[in-house]
Amino acid sequence: MSKLLFIQTLGCAMNVRDSEHIIAELKSKEDYALTDDIKKADLILINTCSVREKPVNKLFSEIGSFEKVKKDGAKIGVLGCTASHLGDEIFKRAPYVDFVLGARNTSKISKAVNTPKFISTDINYDDSEYAFGDFRTSKYKAFVNIMIGCDKKCSYCIVPQTRGDEISIPANLILKEVEKSVNSGAKEIFLLGQNVNNYGRRFSNSHEKIDFSDLLVKISDVKGVERIRFTSPHPLHMDDKFLDVFVNNDKICKSMHMPLQSGSTRVLKAMRRGYTKEWFLDRALKLREMCPDVSISTDIIVAYPGESDEDFLDTMDVLEKVRFEQIFSFKFSPRPLTPAANLPMIDDEIASRRLSTLQNRHTQILDEITQKELGKVHRVYFEELRDGFQVAGRSFNNFMVSVKGSEELLGKTLDVKITNPKRMVLYGEIVS
Ligand code: SAH
Ligand code: SF4
Ligand code: F3S
Repeated sequence: MSKLLFIQTLGCAMNVRDSEHIIAELKSKEDYALTDDIKKADLILINTCSVREKPVNKLFSEIGSFEKVKKDGAKIGVLGCTASHLGDEIFKRAPYVDFVLGARNTSKISKAVNTPKFISTDINYDDSEYAFGDFRTSKYKAFVNIMIGCDKKCSYCIVPQTRGDEISIPANLILKEVEKSVNSGAKEIFLLGQNVNNYGRRFSNSHEKIDFSDLLVKISDVKGVERIRFTSPHPLHMDDKFLDVFVNNDKICKSMHMPLQSGSTRVLKAMRRGYTKEWFLDRALKLREMCPDVSISTDIIVAYPGESDEDFLDTMDVLEKVRFEQIFSFKFSPRPLTPAANLPMIDDEIASRRLSTLQNRHTQILDEITQKELGKVHRVYFEELRDGFQVAGRSFNNFMVSVKGSEELLGKTLDVKITNPKRMVLYGEIVS
């Protein structure tokens, strides 16, 4: 009988994909099967995130609770970005942990489970051409990594210290992965990387040099691919060629993530983002003009050290001008190993006030956007069962759309007329 594996994944889509790789390796090489019941598990894994302080604190409370409920002899492993940056401090703070495996060392999972107190957190280790086994959480969409690491040096961000330098995965391997995914039923391909539109700058060996726009075209030519999404592109690399392919290739979903971080050119400079408020607005408004149906999402950090009221008003100004369909917003959180780690912090009361001013105004904008959806028809790819006999999926421009129905809708792409638009979900009826 197989041994049982319980795995909890925190953080971003890259961690979700790393967890899929780990599950695939453990299934095929170590005879593990997945369980949702932690008490029955022989191996308990947590795949961690370091991007803000909160998820790091969560790691230690979570593994403390694993230790209390785990069965005798069960092992606990800590993986991912916090493993990369805390390393053997994890053993010191939680001596019951059996192994620590950094985000760049996923391919060593078999060795980790078989070696007492194994630790590998090398951020220069190169997993970029490793042939992982197959495991996918969703039957309908497939995450595909196109690069590992990040070459940017944004002053607030720990990711380059947890995932190392940027290396692109060779296009022929990506295309093979895409073909495999479509052959096993996924119609949507979701490309992953920290700066996807910087793809192709460096490979670990000599490979055909192609850029992200050309890679998108090659993927869209793969038979069976119906939808392509990707995250995250970087505003700095949104050149005209990229916008043109994005807008005119009809397999590419019309939703763009444009991580703004701050609307103030002065703060952007301090953050080392490499673009100005004007460049960001130029790209976002050009995109809106070229593609009126596009939805644009963003990430915003408020109260970066030194952010004045005026700087914050610049961020609010970009919000008014771009009217993002979705924002992910955070108070600045100082991270170890980053240039901004020890800068004087802005008073927390001011930071909280700015965050709620931003979020409240965005909610109003979103309500206006949502109301305009009433009566529109969207083409929806159904992929998820919800409570109350509802089935949900995404419109081509990434709205969550839900209709009455059951399993037989899963995996189908159908036209839906929106009859009851809500802030997070547009409810509708199938029209064809
Ligand atoms: N490569 C992506 C970002 C990945 S991290 C990009 O450049 O957009 C995801 C988001 O976390 C970032 O966009 C940023 O908004 C947020 N973030 C990163 N470091 C942070 C910090 N120290 N404090 C608060 N938010 C942070
Ligand atoms: Fe972090 Fe900047 Fe790299 Fe994004 S681009 S992962 S914010 S360093
Ligand atoms: Fe992702 Fe968190 Fe690492 S956002 S890259 S899991 S620090």
